[in-house]
Amino acid sequence: MNILKTIAARFAKALEAIGVEPTPYLELIRPSQDPKFGDFQANFAMPLGKRLGKAPRDVAADVVAHLDYADFLEQPEIAGPGFINLRVKPEYLADLVQKEIGDERLGVDMVEKPRKFVLDYSAPNVAKPLHVGHIRSTMIGNSLARILRFLGNEVVADNHLGDWGTQFGMIIYGYRNFLDANAYEESPVDELARLYRLTRQLVDYYAAKKGVDELEGQVQAAQLAFDAQKTRCGELKAKDDVEKTKDSKDALKKANKERDRLLKTLEAANEKFQAAKSKIDAVESDPKLVELAAGRETIGIDVLNETSKLHHGDEENRALWSQFMPKCLAEVDKIYKRLDVQFDVTLGESFYNDRLSPLVERLKDEGIARETEGAVGIFLEGQDVPMLIQKSDGAYLYATTDLATLEYRRDTFRPDAILYVVDFRQSHHFEQLFEAAKFLDMGDVELTHVKFGAVLGDDGRPFKTRAGDAVGLKSLLDEAEVRALAILESNDANRAPEDKFSEEEKRETAKRVGIGALVYADLSQNRESDYVFSYDKMLAMNGNTATYMQYAYARVRSIFTKGNVDPEALRREFAAGDRKILLNEPEERALAFELTNLQGVLETVARDYRPNWLTSYLYVLANKYSSFFEKCPVLKAEDESIKASRLALCDLTSRTIAKGLNLLGIQTVERM
Ligand code: ARG
Repeated sequence: MNILKTIAARFAKALEAIGVEPTPYLELIRPSQDPKFGDFQANFAMPLGKRLGKAPRDVAADVVAHLDYADFLEQPEIAGPGFINLRVKPEYLADLVQKEIGDERLGVDMVEKPRKFVLDYSAPNVAKPLHVGHIRSTMIGNSLARILRFLGNEVVADNHLGDWGTQFGMIIYGYRNFLDANAYEESPVDELARLYRLTRQLVDYYAAKKGVDELEGQVQAAQLAFDAQKTRCGELKAKDDVEKTKDSKDALKKANKERDRLLKTLEAANEKFQAAKSKIDAVESDPKLVELAAGRETIGIDVLNETSKLHHGDEENRALWSQFMPKCLAEVDKIYKRLDVQFDVTLGESFYNDRLSPLVERLKDEGIARETEGAVGIFLEGQDVPMLIQKSDGAYLYATTDLATLEYRRDTFRPDAILYVVDFRQSHHFEQLFEAAKFLDMGDVELTHVKFGAVLGDDGRPFKTRAGDAVGLKSLLDEAEVRALAILESNDANRAPEDKFSEEEKRETAKRVGIGALVYADLSQNRESDYVFSYDKMLAMNGNTATYMQYAYARVRSIFTKGNVDPEALRREFAAGDRKILLNEPEERALAFELTNLQGVLETVARDYRPNWLTSYLYVLANKYSSFFEKCPVLKAEDESIKASRLALCDLTSRTIAKGLNLLGIQTVERM
């Protein structure tokens, strides 16, 4: 059910009747900004009049004369230069709401043409603990899966785990060289994470040491170039002060611009140099690390060798991998459980290992891929570098696995669309992959990179711990729960003894509130922007937060307890038509409109793959509800029929909020 869609369909017919192709004009029908102008407004008469060479008001009148509206709209009104103001008949709106009350799906129809989606989300590299960035892919993907399914599509949620990359070479190397057996016994995952970090640090250390002289040289060269240009600018400035001609001014301007560019180059070179230096210092200022680093000049290559041995079936490395994997997976699963996230299949990179070599051979045979400087690559339209699928040492790459994955998905799931919910920093990879996919027999499957931005700390830089690592997801979840618990406890302090939370209820509620806050804060962002992480903001009782929405839900529900009304019985009375929805107050009408809007919103989310449309909708809905609740007494309404109608609006509001939150992957609470 979607009123705007019905209106658009009727206008399409009216426009066709006067010989106009309706498509470009229909999007100019929108909800009115001000109820004075009706509920919706059509603003196309102006551009259309211009095109037809007629007065917009006449065009508007002509369209309205051909419009079939009487069953649901009042007589349309033509205003100003040719706006068409539309008012929905109260009976029609009331009727829609009435139908929604009796509908499990809250008036949301299934799509006419269901599609099959493969949804690739979460996909962490499991050799290291999940970090803050993983909440983005995991929760955006999870909510898209829920929404697409709710609309009647088929979704295969596929967790393309990073279970086969160099990180495993790192932990295998670490395990062989630095293992603390007791620590591993006690908490294998923490020990593996430590081994990963340590090995990585030493690899980075030697790489930095190798490159630092050259980086320093680059800084010096950049400095010289910048200084020379600065001198030149000074000379040109002096010249211009005397000459003041167009030529002298232009020359100065050009030189200044070049100086600024050189300054940027210098800064960038310096930043790289400093980064390398701090990697070196971090090791050399710590005697223990110095000792561990000693004699490991080849660690970078040794780690790659461990990975390569794993890929080529080396028995010992395979055995280690098989020993580590279940432990890593169990850790990741704990997080999924807390986030209430599920997958239909988990086919990590390792699954595709045996397909890579035949794939590369075939692509070579078919002339799609060819040798380039000892490696193998696919040359793509509009790209100056080929997409490499095999390195000169024979190793396969991320792209190779993704190509094999594409073919597997094509053959196994036969999808209409494959969505990759992955960090925007991989944009180039996916551009190349989708271009390369044109050489595979993919049919007209839609391939979309559903990209998202970074999570930032207070300083506007990627959210890191003091030690410079990305913040672990587990610690974020823990902290969110702790803070939610503190809020609940302070609320609880004001409650009468008989109303206080039980320990169990407190813990469960804190979980839902804490994790809900984290998830909602993430999903309420336009996914392509970066956002600054803040516990205080995400747990605020006011504003567009999960806490506010959960609170709104709990408040609506409490009316039923207070009024001793059984919402299900009420629902049945309305569904049977024994009771009628009455919309006499403007606030009731405004709320009713919002309630009939869920379908349109979900369709928009499914079109743009942007869950923040849904969070915005819920926020508006909650606000409309607040205005309604302020103006329209519910339990103390003038008479029984109004009271019942308002209670039904409350019930539908709470169900809509709960459904909306559920589609975002967030749970409700009965009180907080
Ligand atoms: N494991 C990858 C990473 O952490 C993400 C994988 C995304 N999916 C894919 N099919 N490439 O960066």
